[in-house]
Amino acid sequence: MDFKSKIKTIEWVDTYSKMVDQTVIPYEYKFVNIKSGDEMFEAIRSMIVRGAPAIGIAGAHGVILYAQELEKENLTRDEFITKLIQKAEYMKTSRPTAVNLMWAVDKQVDVIKNSVSDIRGIIEELKQNGIKLENEDIEINKKIGDFGSEAVPKGAGILTHCNAGALATVGYGTALGVVRSAYAKDNTIRVFADETRPRQQGARITTFELATDGIPVTLITDGMCSYFMKKGLIDVVVVGADRIAANGDTANKIGTYTVAIAAKYHNIPFYIAAPLSTIDISIKTGDEIPIEERSHEEVTHINGKPICPLEGVNIINPGFDVTPHELIAGIITEKGILRPNYNQSIKEAFINKDNI
Ligand code: MRU
Repeated sequence: MDFKSKIKTIEWVDTYSKMVDQTVIPYEYKFVNIKSGDEMFEAIRSMIVRGAPAIGIAGAHGVILYAQELEKENLTRDEFITKLIQKAEYMKTSRPTAVNLMWAVDKQVDVIKNSVSDIRGIIEELKQNGIKLENEDIEINKKIGDFGSEAVPKGAGILTHCNAGALATVGYGTALGVVRSAYAKDNTIRVFADETRPRQQGARITTFELATDGIPVTLITDGMCSYFMKKGLIDVVVVGADRIAANGDTANKIGTYTVAIAAKYHNIPFYIAAPLSTIDISIKTGDEIPIEERSHEEVTHINGKPICPLEGVNIINPGFDVTPHELIAGIITEKGILRPNYNQSIKEAFINKDNI
């Protein structure tokens, strides 16, 4: 097994969605089949599937699952469409920050609204569109990888935070797509992966992916990044994104902002790697990005065991932070590397969006 070929970590199969269960990595690598819309809502909420582009595809699959359920209710075509759009809107509330979820569900809603077919035909069109979105995701990530590899110096130490790899997408990855493409050109590069407390996506998932592909990776805890920057071991930072505002402000996993500040201090370029579907041009700045507040137990416990007194201690657990655009050297997309001024470069990328 490897993650550099075109394997799909989430895909539509006949009547259900098949995805890697990310909650058990690295102890186990197994697929689960999601067979109902409500099961998909729960899979997204509980992070069986996680990572902005992957949960987008999961949301698109969720709409197909709801459509299959509504087909059994003997509704008129109009009733079916009204109820399905309500279900799609509900699916969008399964997680708040990653805009790819809303983007992909809206792509399915467009299919529903534009269809002239009967109920069976609409379901077929939703399936075709879901599979198209899957395939496009891998193609886009390869382009992100190829553009981004140009920003990686020879023999570089690359720091990444959280997991923006094959497992956060349909395949290949965004930030790890850059790593994969860079490594294919220069096998002397090496990666530093932040642990990424509290859910440890860096430790559990990024190191698993890179070790599986034979790419040299060193696991560090989140607080160690400036130490290794000062030592000269980090030449470039590449992370993914969950939502990017029109001015380039970027929400990514909690702790990313700290890494960006440290990179600026040490004069190390800090890049975001993300598809255009992660850019939310409807919001002007990062202040408008909703930040998910997650369960306190993610902070108070590790592997089910408490790591602090459970009485008399306040807990707060935002899942994401927003890195201000002025700390970002470039946003690596399928259209190339966007540079400051981001208001301008993002607008231009959207004008030419369809000629990838
Ligand atoms: O909470 P998660 O694990 O779904 O967080 C999303 C992420 O994986 C990261 O923030 C990632 O860097 C961006 S998604 C490619």
